[in-house]
Amino acid sequence: MDKRKLKRAAELIDRAGHILVFAGSGLSAESGIPTFRGEDGMYSNPDVLRYAHADALREEPEAALAWFQKMRDMIDDYEPNPGHYALARICAERDCTIATQNVDRLLESAFLREGLTKEGIWHLHGSLFRSRCDVCDEPLEEPPTDYTAAECDECGGIIRPDVTLFGEMLPEAPYLRAQGAAHVADVVLLLGTSGIVYPAATIPGLARSHGAKLIEINPNPTELSEIADVVIRGKTGEVLPEIDRLLA
Ligand code: APR
Repeated sequence: MDKRKLKRAAELIDRAGHILVFAGSGLSAESGIPTFRGEDGMYSNPDVLRYAHADALREEPEAALAWFQKMRDMIDDYEPNPGHYALARICAERDCTIATQNVDRLLESAFLREGLTKEGIWHLHGSLFRSRCDVCDEPLEEPPTDYTAAECDECGGIIRPDVTLFGEMLPEAPYLRAQGAAHVADVVLLLGTSGIVYPAATIPGLARSHGAKLIEINPNPTELSEIADVVIRGKTGEVLPEIDRLLA
């Protein structure tokens, strides 16, 4: 790991008035959750391509809901990794907006286990751990234990995970919150994302146009590398704890 770049990143974070975190599946990779486009990524699994599309929910709702149930139960077995814990410690002490493209809840778990609070982790593509009615959008407090047997109390529609499927619009509130943060952030942490899925991927460039410094932590080059001010080629599970140590 490039010590000079780690130090530069820590300085930028320490001086920042407001930090925007823009996270992708690489942040959860060291917990065991595959990324989407990497080698053996989720998109090499035909089921993901089939059920991650809104058409599946219309054409084969039972199979789609059963698959989502399996995914949620599988993802719920994973544990936060050192990158989640370090990010929780860095953000808990600072004015920080966290916009994640991930649908897991590992970062929430990391905050909780560190005894830290966070007013909101904004899921730009929704969360597998929230549910809503597919017809009237009525949210459910608790996700159903069995999606295939659940129906909306308000309108009888099917209950589905509150995730953004291909062909669907992003949820408005998280995106507006991330856009708002992009206007005021001094620093953006680009954590484990290829930065190629829009409109979420507009956020880093928007922040930069408003003067933010971008810090990328990723073992591989991405579309965002060329606009990043500090590029740290490494895993978030190893780099973030180093930065956290420098900030201590
Ligand atoms: N630490 C940091 N970055 C990592 C790690 C790691 N341990 N392992 C992999 N990466 C990086 C990869 O190099 C890659 O750049 O994480 C990135 C993952 O990229 P994608 O698989 O494209 O995932 P992501 O950027 O989250 O995709 C964005 O695309 O299909 C949609 O909804 C889906 O939210 C997802 C969005």
